[in-house]
Amino acid sequence: MRIVQISDTHLSPGKAHFAKNWPPLAAWVAAQNPDLVIHTGDVTVDGADAEEDLQHASELMQALGVRVLAVPGNHDVGDAGHPAQPVSDERLARWRAHFGPDRWIEDVEGFRLVGLDAMLLGSDDHEEAAQAAWLDVAMREARGRQIAWFLHRPLFLDSPDEGDTGYWSVKPGPRARLMDLVRRYSVSLVASGHLHKAHQMRRDGTRYLWAPASSFLVGSGIQPRMPGEKRLGAVLYELDGAVLEASIADVPGLSPYWIDDVIDEVYPRPSDSRPAPN
Ligand SMILES: [Fe+2]
Ligand SMILES: [Fe+2]
Repeated sequence: MRIVQISDTHLSPGKAHFAKNWPPLAAWVAAQNPDLVIHTGDVTVDGADAEEDLQHASELMQALGVRVLAVPGNHDVGDAGHPAQPVSDERLARWRAHFGPDRWIEDVEGFRLVGLDAMLLGSDDHEEAAQAAWLDVAMREARGRQIAWFLHRPLFLDSPDEGDTGYWSVKPGPRARLMDLVRRYSVSLVASGHLHKAHQMRRDGTRYLWAPASSFLVGSGIQPRMPGEKRLGAVLYELDGAVLEASIADVPGLSPYWIDDVIDEVYPRPSDSRPAPN
């Protein structure tokens, strides 16, 4: 079983700044001949407010001719506690209309793959509680399968015990609850996007993998120091029984755009708040 993970495509028909990176990515995906594609969010430039972005990106995914499972990013459905774009029932309904459920389970080989909506974490939205209850059942009923999680925002940057990293990782409260599940069920893999950096690390037997974006990189004026490598690409997984191999891959033909050069056009700053580039 071969799975390709792509992330942070940031697609939009109106803001086509990174559109030229889609054809090489689509060609690379086709060349891998995968059984499944998993997109870990920020599919769109601004699906949270622009439905045409969701429509456009969904059409591109369907044109891959491969089954795609996706989890939303902050630019697709908004974010917990965001002053201008909070995650909401309306935004989630739009996502689901174009991409299907924002949380899902897929049992393949000896694995249970679990897609999580990281944008609900810390929102106190009724959907956050519903997802937590659903996840408890999903874990309990994995019945001896290895478990791999896919979500947009990483659980942490350096350590599960670190404090609040703000925009960049899951808040300490919801993180602690998820880490409890990671440890209790010996989760094999936690794969994420959002940071536009590639990285792999192991903690207590769990592999944490940050998938690179295919759209753009983020300069040090916007993104603080953290682990990982500023490169574009995708991730290739081979699953065989209970064994999973993961490799971060270069994708030929991707142009290394920097968001710093176009942030005022792509993500114009509301008059009194910081931009949210990733
Ligand atoms: Fe993001
Ligand atoms: Fe992103």
